[in-house]
Amino acid sequence: MVNIGFIGCGQMGRDHIDRIANRMGNAHIVAIYDLNRAAAEKAVADFGLDAKICDSADELIHAPEVDAVVMASRNDAHLEPLLACIEAGKPVFTEKPMTIDGADSWKVVEAEVKAGKKLVQVGFNRRYDTGYEQMKEIIDSKQIGELLCGDCRHFNAQAATSYYRTDNVVNDTLIHECDILHYLFDDDYKAVEIKCARQNRLNPNGAENLREPQIAIIEFQHGAIVTVEANVNCQYGYDIQCRLVGESGTVSLPDVATPEVRQAERIYHSISSDWFARFLDAYDKEMRAFLNRVERGEEPSGQMATAWDGYVANVAADAMLESLHNGGRVEISLPERPALYA
Ligand SMILES: NC(=O)c1ccc[n+]([C@@H]2O[C@H](COP(=O)([O-])OP(=O)(O)OC[C@H]3O[C@@H](n4cnc5c(N)ncnc54)[C@H](O)[C@@H]3O)[C@@H](O)[C@H]2O)c1
Repeated sequence: MVNIGFIGCGQMGRDHIDRIANRMGNAHIVAIYDLNRAAAEKAVADFGLDAKICDSADELIHAPEVDAVVMASRNDAHLEPLLACIEAGKPVFTEKPMTIDGADSWKVVEAEVKAGKKLVQVGFNRRYDTGYEQMKEIIDSKQIGELLCGDCRHFNAQAATSYYRTDNVVNDTLIHECDILHYLFDDDYKAVEIKCARQNRLNPNGAENLREPQIAIIEFQHGAIVTVEANVNCQYGYDIQCRLVGESGTVSLPDVATPEVRQAERIYHSISSDWFARFLDAYDKEMRAFLNRVERGEEPSGQMATAWDGYVANVAADAMLESLHNGGRVEISLPERPALYA
């Protein structure tokens, strides 16, 4: 049984609290913290938790009864608790992105290297989606040869909130591709470029606040090139596509299976707008993997995203933002990967 200290009780946090408290079977939430105390109190009441409400992330991390920490606070609130967990030697699962940029994420990598131990696992949930898992297996088996190119689609029906802005397309949306492509290709990024397409008149936030669709052109060190279309106002549903081309074949992310309907001179499948539901299984699987490895006293490995992976995704996102704001192709260079992450 793992005693969890939980930080951040917003939308994603409440989903993880429900998951940990009611679906995992090997964890208790014993301490909880949110900057907005009312959110922590509401979570305790709604999910019937027997948890102490803490006054700070530090108090929670250092509570002796807390074995491990799960964090779903705002992106800009991840860094300090991550460093405190590493200092305290406590395993921590943080929602993506690990921090707000490459410079901050490097501080996490440095802290782990200094501690000589991997404690951080980043919630890049797609790695646990069955479709992506199957793609990874096919790619790694080399049955379609080396990967050459590909095209992906990250479509949302509508911008998530009224305050979702141009940069959020990179920081909150494309950041998932920044991780999953690095993972699938098992290769480092060489350069990126972002181009904005013709503006959608159905964008509720206005083109001046939210410039999109954005097209990312991503180059890998070994020469492969992938394009990603990020279109967060596509109107028709939440649609995640990924088609990768190898030397002797292609592999594509399967669509979510829904019944085929034949009616009124049409044949169709429905597609949901609910991004949360699309990856529900993956959220369960990544949390189970975290709790199981903590229970076994293991460091993150295999398909788990480490602090290094979190750093790589942030560096790619930084380059995308630079291209978005200043135009053109932006080269990416990483320091040598520390032996801890070999
Ligand atoms: N993996 C995914 O698919 C996915 C999906 C959505 C959100 N997320 C990530 O989950 C995290 C939370 O997103 P959300 O949609 O739940 O946001 P949210 O705004 O609903 O909730 C954020 C919570 O963090 C709290 N908070 C803010 N600053 C804090 C601080 N300094 N210390 C502690 N708590 C603080 C807020 O009071 C709020 O309750 C973000 O990192 C986000 O990027 C991941």
